[in-house]
Amino acid sequence: MGLIEYMKILIMAYGEDIIKSKYMQEQKKYIQHGNVSVFDHCVGVASVATYISIFLPIKLNERALIRGALLHDYFLYDWHIRDDSHKLHGFRHAKVALINAERDFSLCKIEKDIIKKHMFPLNIAPPRYLESIIVCIADKICAVLETLSISY
Ligand SMILES: [Fe+2]
Ligand SMILES: [Fe+2]
Repeated sequence: MGLIEYMKILIMAYGEDIIKSKYMQEQKKYIQHGNVSVFDHCVGVASVATYISIFLPIKLNERALIRGALLHDYFLYDWHIRDDSHKLHGFRHAKVALINAERDFSLCKIEKDIIKKHMFPLNIAPPRYLESIIVCIADKICAVLETLSISY
């Protein structure tokens, strides 16, 4: 089995319910960076985080890593549109995503930390678990690639 195939199986094994949820499917309508939707961004971050974790010599909670990554931007709005409620999106959306994710799924402490801390260092509370650090890094890598229209 190739690496991409293995990653797909892993992500679907742990995150299929999230990916197929109505709310996450709606995220296909909203743009995150460049011309990448929030949906594709979240699946992308989960993929990059999984990729990083495969090469780390440490045992991680793969399930929490994948589910937290899929839910890290769990909001429904286009933050590029000027609106008072979208001001300070960078500072606020992690909290919004956590509230939404807790409404729709039961989350473990690692998943909560991943969502809440993924905007570090913009949000000053540092990630507490290795899984949160990996998603935080994967998110930045994906944001740069998407903004530069580099497909990954
Ligand atoms: Fe985010
Ligand atoms: Fe993100």
